[in-house]
Amino acid sequence: MATSTIIVLLCLITCFVHQLQFQFSPVWAATTMADKSEIFTVYQHDHLNETGYAVVTGPAGAPFSDTTRPFGTIYVFRDDLTLHNDSSSAVVGVIEGSSTTTSFDGLRNLLAAKITLHHRGYRGSVSVLGGTHNTKPSVYPVVGGTGDFLYTVGYVRQSPVDSDGPRVTYKLQINLYWPPYVKFAPVP
Ligand SMILES: *[C@@H]1O[C@H](CO)[C@@H](O)[C@H](O)[C@H]1NC(C)=O
Ligand SMILES: *[C@@H]1O[C@H](CO)[C@@H](O)[C@H](O)[C@H]1NC(C)=O
Repeated sequence: MATSTIIVLLCLITCFVHQLQFQFSPVWAATTMADKSEIFTVYQHDHLNETGYAVVTGPAGAPFSDTTRPFGTIYVFRDDLTLHNDSSSAVVGVIEGSSTTTSFDGLRNLLAAKITLHHRGYRGSVSVLGGTHNTKPSVYPVVGGTGDFLYTVGYVRQSPVDSDGPRVTYKLQINLYWPPYVKFAPVP
């Protein structure tokens, strides 16, 4: 009897500490992650006309194809991020943003997006801005973050791993670094 009461109490305390950690997560990350880094690997599942749409059609350059879009095309998307390549695996985040085609061969883009993650005890978002290529791996910078990723810097390595008609899967390796000054910086 006494043992089970103690076990229940321990569980309650563990839950409470866990809650506190998430409730005050920016402070937690700022004080414990200074001068540390993390790598998160997730898979982005884009589906033309379901999770992403060409909202502006560019006036020149390559035509629409599985890998190209006319110059000046603006593609807006909201794609799930999963733990594994398989789109039915656990969803651990989302990437929301737009990609503007900036080359006349229809292959290169300027990406502006927000990546929200709830993964491995971290909760927050990073904003990214940079160039991508439709068929080759790209590296683009992280320009800032929120929540546990407040003040982080780093980069995302994006590689297309599978494309099947209107569906494209990208592997995203999100490399984040919390600068040493995060422990002195203001938190919301
Ligand atoms: C996506 O929608 C556009 C505009 O309605 C259409 O022209 C195109 O064929 C569609 N593509 C697919 C793969 O559904
Ligand atoms: C991802 O899954 C697809 C379809 O199941 C498969 O064709 C592809 O080889 C896989 N890619 C990787 C990198 O595991």
